[in-house]
Amino acid sequence: MTDTIDRAAAPASDYVQRGLDHLWVHTQQYNDLAQDDGFVVIDGGDGIYLEAMDGKRYIDAMSGLWVVAVGHGREELANVAAEQMTKLSFANPFAYATPPAIDLASKLADLTPSTLNKFYFVNSGSEAVETAVRMAKQYHYNRGDTKRYKVISRIGSYHGTTLGALSLNASSAMNRAPFEPLLPGVVHVPNSNGFGALKNDATELDDMFWARYTEEIIKFEKPETIAALIAEPISTSNGSHVPSREYWEHLRKVTEEHGILLIHDEVINGFGRTGKWFASEHFGIEPDLLTMAKQISSGYAPIAAVGASDKVAEAFVGEKKDAFVGGSTWGANPVSCAVALANLEILERERLPENSAATGEYLGEQLEGLKSRHKIVAETRGIGLMRAVDLKRDPATGEEFEDADELPKRMTHQLLDAGILSRAGASIQVAPPLTINREEVDSLVEGLSQAIGGVEAELGIT
Ligand SMILES: Cc1ncc(COP(=O)(O)O)c(C=O)c1O
Repeated sequence: MTDTIDRAAAPASDYVQRGLDHLWVHTQQYNDLAQDDGFVVIDGGDGIYLEAMDGKRYIDAMSGLWVVAVGHGREELANVAAEQMTKLSFANPFAYATPPAIDLASKLADLTPSTLNKFYFVNSGSEAVETAVRMAKQYHYNRGDTKRYKVISRIGSYHGTTLGALSLNASSAMNRAPFEPLLPGVVHVPNSNGFGALKNDATELDDMFWARYTEEIIKFEKPETIAALIAEPISTSNGSHVPSREYWEHLRKVTEEHGILLIHDEVINGFGRTGKWFASEHFGIEPDLLTMAKQISSGYAPIAAVGASDKVAEAFVGEKKDAFVGGSTWGANPVSCAVALANLEILERERLPENSAATGEYLGEQLEGLKSRHKIVAETRGIGLMRAVDLKRDPATGEEFEDADELPKRMTHQLLDAGILSRAGASIQVAPPLTINREEVDSLVEGLSQAIGGVEAELGIT
């Protein structure tokens, strides 16, 4: 039991101690949090900035977790939530609809690729991925095609933490070993730039090689056993390499030829992050199912969704047994739906996807400029406001940092000193809110330069 706390008067250090004692912070190692300034408590936000309890202000260089598209502190969204809560905070989603859920679904039908017209609301990206995979399986089942249980996923992917989504993962961001055996029937194929550890060599091959390689694996696995292929159009977890239009056109053609559903996971890519409303648009591709979360509400309320094409949705219309199996108590929560809709209206009104394209290009140029200022900046990549800066001990020889260099720890501390919050290791994620302007980009890049210079100095790389 904790004593009653006067929250307004409690000092930051008290929060840090009680946080260490009682709050299980996602993905973090306690020993890292317990060190020096490892435990940061955020208690305010405004635009692209976040404020920690000790009064320090940071640029939110990863939009939280690729989430806060419209920036922090939007009173408009708080008012929408309050109004909806007062009017109706909950109705049984297993039985009834609410106006905000219908309004949001209709808006998504307008914004997403034209064939996607039916939207199923859940609460997180992982749940959206689980739902899309189950929808794909039941789509085939309802049509009498009951042998399709396999799902194709790509190496380097991250699709979430629930057991089904985790089974699709193949990235260093998630250690799968403690949870094995995982979902049977998941087949991993190379990403658009090849295989993880071999990707330095593999990038010499163009992505069409890997598209054809994937086609061969699909044939080898017997296409009539495959329910779906799931992939981010532009994979963030795999380093934000942007594939060619031909790559996606080929995979779309192959999946169609074999009756395999294509699931585009736009949990990060969606809602303007890549400079278009949906990344599928860069490739002229219409997926059968599209998962979305994060920027759908900019984090002002938890909500995620699966968009289904007319072809998929029709397979669920018929008898009672054909209805999609399962539901979620918080799914289509009216408050979350109202907030998400208002958030999408801000994205539209302020033309934030367009700003992501234009200011994102400027950001890309400034990041590229870091190469001439720093020895360890090896490569910069990305599209829109979804960028990454890759670091190597010696970019000329390709020598990577060693564990003994403690790069993630050093870089995280240097970034904090420079007033930047992001995820940093051999790659620094640069994905600020879509409201960012050029001046703010300049201070972000200056901060990054300061932090990179700090690491170089610590490691004696001059
Ligand atoms: C592409 C992708 N899919 C799914 C997820 C899982 O989303 P959530 O953390 O909301 O469960 C993530 C999370 O970052 C993601 O990046």
